[in-house]
Amino acid sequence: MRILVTGKNGQLGRSIQNIVNTDTKIGNNQSLNDFIFVGREDLDLSSKSSISYYFSNNDKFDLIINCAAYTQVDRAEQEAELANQINHLAVKQLASIASNKQSRLIHISTDYVFDGESNKLYLETDTPNPINVYSRTKLAGEKALQTVMPMNALIIRTSWVYSEYHNNFVKTMLRLGKERDEVSVVSDQIGSPTYAADLADAILEIIKHKKFRDVAQTTQIYNYSNEGKISWYEFAKEIFKLAEIDCKVSPITTQQYPTPAKRPRNTLMKKDKIVKVFNIKISHWKSSLNTCMTILKKQ
Ligand SMILES: NC(=O)c1ccc[n+]([C@@H]2O[C@H](COP(=O)([O-])OP(=O)(O)OC[C@H]3O[C@@H](n4cnc5c(N)ncnc54)[C@H](OP(=O)(O)O)[C@@H]3O)[C@@H](O)[C@H]2O)c1
Repeated sequence: MRILVTGKNGQLGRSIQNIVNTDTKIGNNQSLNDFIFVGREDLDLSSKSSISYYFSNNDKFDLIINCAAYTQVDRAEQEAELANQINHLAVKQLASIASNKQSRLIHISTDYVFDGESNKLYLETDTPNPINVYSRTKLAGEKALQTVMPMNALIIRTSWVYSEYHNNFVKTMLRLGKERDEVSVVSDQIGSPTYAADLADAILEIIKHKKFRDVAQTTQIYNYSNEGKISWYEFAKEIFKLAEIDCKVSPITTQQYPTPAKRPRNTLMKKDKIVKVFNIKISHWKSSLNTCMTILKKQ
């Protein structure tokens, strides 16, 4: 398969690259050359013509993995049009290109499509109700993709992504923990962190899987995050514990920490579907955080 991966400089894009570069035989004798990684300098999702130009000047891809997105949740409140172009209209265009060329498409979406008011684990079939601009554009992208590409695409909803790369909660806490004696972190938003390397592994497992490769499937949504249930406050405490940083973490409420974009209260997702269909093994958030922190310590 000739595989195009967008968002090469983002957390997930870099994590996929890292695995592909270190494991030259990604199943079924795929070599490094099967993967083409692109950033916004090659394929700018904010521009319809850049997308058309890129695909008309490159040979057909068998699979597109769309890791690029407008991910700045608060800034999206001010940049709704740009967020909508990247997270919705560009996804629709990618789906249309993939459909015309009979390529497959794996697209990444978010737990934030839900309003977070449920006290149960969210299923893929639950009704979304996004509560901020970012999430509305991500949901619009999902819906457009499903309409344009009813077959051969796969949407993975993930949550609280962190990694060794780019900006994320773990790296922010490590920085703040070194600068301050105390940090206040919200304790009433509950979710599951996702180590980008684990999600990258899961994606590479999926594309090796017979069910993905051999059978024309209706487009499906799958939930994926690490196992476990925590608040941002508990997450921060564990980060400092592992990094041996002596910084006090004080729990605060969402109300005490107002942000431009509203955040859902509880976005825990049920992951049985991805586990069952693709035989994906999911690590607990604590062991994955430990792995990431061990790598960060060596940097
Ligand atoms: N981060 C989270 O907590 C989280 C949670 C749930 C779901 N997700 C979803 O997971 C996926 C991967 O997220 P991530 O954490 O890896 O995101 P990320 O680190 O912010 O990376 C996103 C990438 O998209 C690229 N991008 C932005 N605008 C672009 C444009 N106009 N054209 C082309 N590329 C553009 C960025 O390029 P530059 O590097 O040049 O800026 C960046 O490399 C996204 O779909 C996101 O919505 C993320």
